[in-house]
Amino acid sequence: MEDRGAFVVRSNGPLSGTVRVAGATKNAGLKQMAAALLAPGATTLRNVDPVADLDVMIDVVRALGAAVEWVGPHEIRVDASGEITGEAPYELVTRMRASINVLGPLLGRCGSARVAMPGGDNIGNRKLDMHFRGLEAMGAELSVVRGFIEARAPVLTGARVVLEFPSVGATENLLTAAVLAKGTSVIENAAREPEITALAAMLNRMGARVFGAGSSTIEVEGVEEVAGVDVEVMGDRIEAGTYLMACGIAGGEITIEGTSLHHLELVARKLGEMGMRVSAAPSGLWARADERLRAADIATLPFPGFATDYMPLAVALLSVADGTAIVTENIFDNRFSFVDELNRMDADIRTEGRHAVVRGKPRLSGAPVRALDVRAGAALVIAGLAADGETVVFDRHHVDRGYRDLAGSLRSLGADVEAVGADRPSGEEGP
Ligand code: EPU
Repeated sequence: MEDRGAFVVRSNGPLSGTVRVAGATKNAGLKQMAAALLAPGATTLRNVDPVADLDVMIDVVRALGAAVEWVGPHEIRVDASGEITGEAPYELVTRMRASINVLGPLLGRCGSARVAMPGGDNIGNRKLDMHFRGLEAMGAELSVVRGFIEARAPVLTGARVVLEFPSVGATENLLTAAVLAKGTSVIENAAREPEITALAAMLNRMGARVFGAGSSTIEVEGVEEVAGVDVEVMGDRIEAGTYLMACGIAGGEITIEGTSLHHLELVARKLGEMGMRVSAAPSGLWARADERLRAADIATLPFPGFATDYMPLAVALLSVADGTAIVTENIFDNRFSFVDELNRMDADIRTEGRHAVVRGKPRLSGAPVRALDVRAGAALVIAGLAADGETVVFDRHHVDRGYRDLAGSLRSLGADVEAVGADRPSGEEGP
């Protein structure tokens, strides 16, 4: 069997110390790299890491004609001065859903694009209808031909688009397509995630005219051209949430640097309801859990709601909390597969459609389990902090897609977690 790495986790008492989150390479950096294609010049992204998904985006952007090079351990330069072709190859795009983010910039810059239908995490039926409808409203013609999205828009025209749901990816594609469109575009029911605000801020620094990002209505006045910029990628709020939940599971007192309470407000409030203290610290967040937490119900929602990406981590926490909780997943239709793995560790979780009933137990039992996607894998790792014996989380490669060095970061808080085997020990290989 192919060795895809594993985490070996043993319970080691409460956490303590300070950890710094990496930049949100997967959920913000990749999108900003795609946006760099809009400018016939060089863009530098700082605070990024060579996580697996970035490698895919680098290959995609190179295949489109841009030059990409690491200019420092956390700094990458994308030079899109040369000719950009509109074709993103199948073998790359199918490895990662975020490759779809090149569609908007390509249509804006080249007037045409041929992008393979994307792959990505196995967390439900992830459609692209809102991306398509929005781009069509702006004058693009789209069709799917033998697995490829073929898009043409000799002239993109500003339009008013009402999204059926505040999709992160659709908002990003429409936003980037609108930058070089003729006239004004309005995206209603836009996603409000901090990553969208960060993308809009970058676009504005490039010379775009984007207003209202972070609210439900984003307005974009098209401009003739934009220029490359230097961008610091925002801290990873999901990684920060991972350490908060880990602290809730193992107990202890930790400081998380490089993020902001503002990005994790609802998570902090929910953890507060459960008996944990979370507050803003000068350079990020401070958290303390003195005793076993109490169960609380959770329902995922678009930002500023409780993010779906925290859900598997929260389920791990609830599986050792005092009491029973109902967890409702409102964003993806198949994000509970990891529950079977947690139950192998003796958790008591039952699922029915979009709901999970989690009956907390004081301790779990270490077991060999499999990471099914990035957050599900991280959830199993932190569950192992409250399990007797050894937990081995196989298929570590899923986790490495989104975390620079989950094992190392947890170790710096006193946890006993090791990344073993396989291709690329997360964070241990340079650019
Ligand atoms: N959807 C449609 N039609 C569309 C677009 C989306 O039906 O045209 C549906 C999806 O099927 C899904 C829901 O809308 O059920 C939400 O999808 P969204 O477009 O908001 O998600 P995404 O852009 O594909 C990003 C993150 C995910 C995160 C979601 C929700 C990246 C690379 N991915 O995905 O991150 O869960 O937003 O916040 O930014 C993760 O980090 O673990 C992760 C999966």
